[in-house]
Parts: sequence; C-alpha cells; structure tokens
Amino acid sequence: MSPFLLTRTLPEDATEAALRADVLKGLTHTPKTLPPKWFYDAHGSELFEQITELPEYYPTRAEREILVARSGEIAAATGARTLVELGSGSSEKTRYLLDALTGLHTYVPVDVSESALTQAGHALIAQRPELSVHALIADFTGGLSLPGTPGPRLVAFLGGTIGNLLPVERAAFLSSVRSLLSPGDALLLGTDLVKDENVLVRAYDDAAGVTAAFNKNVLTVVNRELGADFDPGAFDHVALWDAENEWIEMRLRSRTDQTVKVPALDLAVDFAADEELRTEISAKFRKEGVRGELAAAGLELAHWWTDGEGRFALSLSVVR
Ligand SMILES: C[S@@+](CC[C@H](N)C(=O)[O-])C[C@H]1O[C@@H](n2cnc3c(N)ncnc32)[C@H](O)[C@@H]1O
Repeated sequence: MSPFLLTRTLPEDATEAALRADVLKGLTHTPKTLPPKWFYDAHGSELFEQITELPEYYPTRAEREILVARSGEIAAATGARTLVELGSGSSEKTRYLLDALTGLHTYVPVDVSESALTQAGHALIAQRPELSVHALIADFTGGLSLPGTPGPRLVAFLGGTIGNLLPVERAAFLSSVRSLLSPGDALLLGTDLVKDENVLVRAYDDAAGVTAAFNKNVLTVVNRELGADFDPGAFDHVALWDAENEWIEMRLRSRTDQTVKVPALDLAVDFAADEELRTEISAKFRKEGVRGELAAAGLELAHWWTDGEGRFALSLSVVR
C-alpha cells in the first residue's frame, strides 16, 4: 500500500495558543469577530460536507463541473508531479485532478482539520495505492513549508476558500503562495463569482438550517477548548450581502443582553441585544479583479474557466 504521512507543522499547544489569541483579539474588538478557520473541528468539517450537498449551495457543484470538464487541460498545462492542495477538506473534488494528472508522484493535502485530513487520506490511499499522500496539518496563512517532493508542483486552492480572507490578507497569502513556486510550477485558484444577491444569500442561509448550525459550531469550539459558556441557542444565524465590498458576511446576532465568560482567557464579554459577531466573509469575484490580485503577487492569469452558468471560476497561473 502507498504511504500516508500526516505531519503536524505546529505543535498542538501552538494551535491552542492561536485560538486563544484569536478569541481574545476578536471578542474584545469592535465590532466583535472570530476567524472562520475555527469552524472546522471534526463536527464543523462534517457540517461543511453537508453544506456542499445542499440544493442552495451551488459553488461545489459549479466547481465540480469545471473540474470534470477541464482537469485534462490543467494536467496538460502543468504536468504536475506534486499536487499541493490548500484547505483540502474532504478532497472530494480533487479526484478529477488526481485522475487527470497521470505523472503525479505525491499529493500534499493541507488543512487545519486533522479529522478531515485523516478521513480523506485513508480513503485516497485505499483507492490509489500508487500515490504517495503527505498530509500537513497547517494554517495556510501561516508561512507554509512544503515537503521536498518532485516538481513541477501544482498548488490548488479550491472551494472559493480564498474569499474567506480579507483583501489585505489575500494579498499577503497570494504572495506567500508565489514564494513557494519555482519556474514551471502553477497555481489553480477557485473563486466564486458575483451574482444575484438572492442566490448568494440563500447559499449561506439554507432552508434546512445546516449553515446556521455550522456558523454556531464556532461557539461550541470556543466552549470546549477555552471553557466558555456561550449558549448557541441565544444567537441567531445571519447571512447578508455587502454590495460595496462584494462579499457575503456570516454573523451571529445576540438575541438578548448577555455576558459570556471565557475562563481560559479570564474574560467576560458583554453582548447587547441584537449585537452581531462576524464569523466569516466570503468574497465574490470578477475576472479582472482576480487577474489584478494575481498580478500584484507576481502571478499571471493564463486560463480562466467557468461553469456553464458562469457562477464559479477556476483560474490557472503557470510560473515562467
Ligand atoms: C470552505 S472549506 C473548502 C473545502 C474543500 N477545499 C472544498 O472545496 O470543498 C475550507 C477548508 O479549508 C480549511 N481551512 C480553513 N481555514 C484554514 C487555514 N487558515 N489553514 C488551513 N486550512 C484551513 C477548512 O478546515 C476546510 O477544510
């Protein structure tokens, strides 16, 4: 059987220190915020997989449609021997790339969710005994160091996850990805596109309430890890379109005046009734914006593929 390596690039206590720092900063900030990476414990990763199957959540289906149609072209343009995937989650859509990349030597899924990496890794090695899988538990915003595997490398960042970063964070992130690439390497980037507001809002506020449960899961994570006493039932899920910034915002709105204690931080946080805590942005893109952001990081947009309804795009940049 092929090797499956799981490497933690940060010690476990560093993850806890990062959570403490983010919660302290975010809950004492005005307005209050929490970064979206803390949604993804085992339960949050499972809820995200359920979201990808919701009728309202079109991005996964649209991106899959592009991968089905274009993975052959991506393989021909890159000839990748190593596929690095940032925020790989279940790696479900990745199989189209893995099938097309016939000369692939190693797949390097990178995620903060250990449960997602383990599940995806074990499924992959069972299906593809010839493939070496080297999974990294790592924060893709934190200066990645990749294993020394054969080039050319293709770095894939799918799912529209780049939209969870603020513009200033995206610029730093894209520059850090560029610094990982050598001539002949490539970046494959999935971006959700600007579209009708109702379609966008429904994708983040589904009728079955799965996205609401996903949103509230961050409170459960803070309760479990930092001993906090958030009552998820005392907050409402909110999804709204910010037309100026062209992003969806997910928030949790306090139903009442309440005080939440976070003993690990020796912190008591007051929420006024209707006060909102921002938990995620999901930026939506236009082609020229993506081209400009790539160019600012030293990357040239070489291919731009959309699904048939123009909802989602994959772009490919090959380093010369
Ligand atoms: C929106 S999901 C997308 C999953 C998958 N790529 C897809 O297209 O369905 C985001 C994924 O990125 C991971 N993630 C979020 N923030 C991260 C970070 N800062 N570093 C590494 N992984 C992160 C999550 O655990 C999750 O698996």
